[in-house]
Amino acid sequence: MDRDLTGLPTVPPAEYVGAIAQHVSSVCVITTACQGRRYGLTATAVASVTADPPRLLVCVNKSGLTHEKILAAGAFCVNVLAEEQAGIAMVFAGMGGREADRFAQGEWTVMATGAPALLGASAVFDCRLAETGQQSTHTILFGDVVAATHRKGADTLLYGARRFRQLRKVFNAQGEPVDYL
Ligand SMILES: Cc1cc2nc3c(=O)[nH]c(=O)nc-3n(C[C@H](O)[C@H](O)[C@H](O)COP(=O)(O)O)c2cc1C
Repeated sequence: MDRDLTGLPTVPPAEYVGAIAQHVSSVCVITTACQGRRYGLTATAVASVTADPPRLLVCVNKSGLTHEKILAAGAFCVNVLAEEQAGIAMVFAGMGGREADRFAQGEWTVMATGAPALLGASAVFDCRLAETGQQSTHTILFGDVVAATHRKGADTLLYGARRFRQLRKVFNAQGEPVDYL
């Protein structure tokens, strides 16, 4: 390394937050089941890690309730929401109030890990918790995917610049409009 980068200050958190808001993501609901009860939260900090082994990651705030339940269960399910499921995203983000039954909306089934999966989701990944990484306020949860399903042709709900969004246009490398399939 020809430069000493250690003295370079990082940007103020608010500056980072403003810029990262432009990073549009799909909206997911991360679920788990623990001692017969279901838990879940809305999350956009979800990414694919590797295809072989099939592994993904989710960043979950340690201060939430679902965080400890996922660790206790050793499993979680990533439900990638379809664009008509924004209402579910809001409930799982806590906008329905602390006491709201987050699973009252939508139809749910149970995956092999015991975690709930949302019927009609754009994609579902049932995961066994493989590893964790500690990053300040968040835990990075790495999940090995034991089941994956998707709804071919479904448009996924997006979130960017602090708003829910829908896909506007689908095109190929030549800029020509194409069907989503
Ligand atoms: C669009 C959106 C994306 C979010 N992404 C995350 C995320 O990636 N990780 C996280 O820990 N919380 C995220 N949150 C916040 C949680 O959904 C929220 O704090 C929730 O109430 C936590 O529930 P819990 O206390 O049951 O864990 C997001 C909220 C919204 C609205």
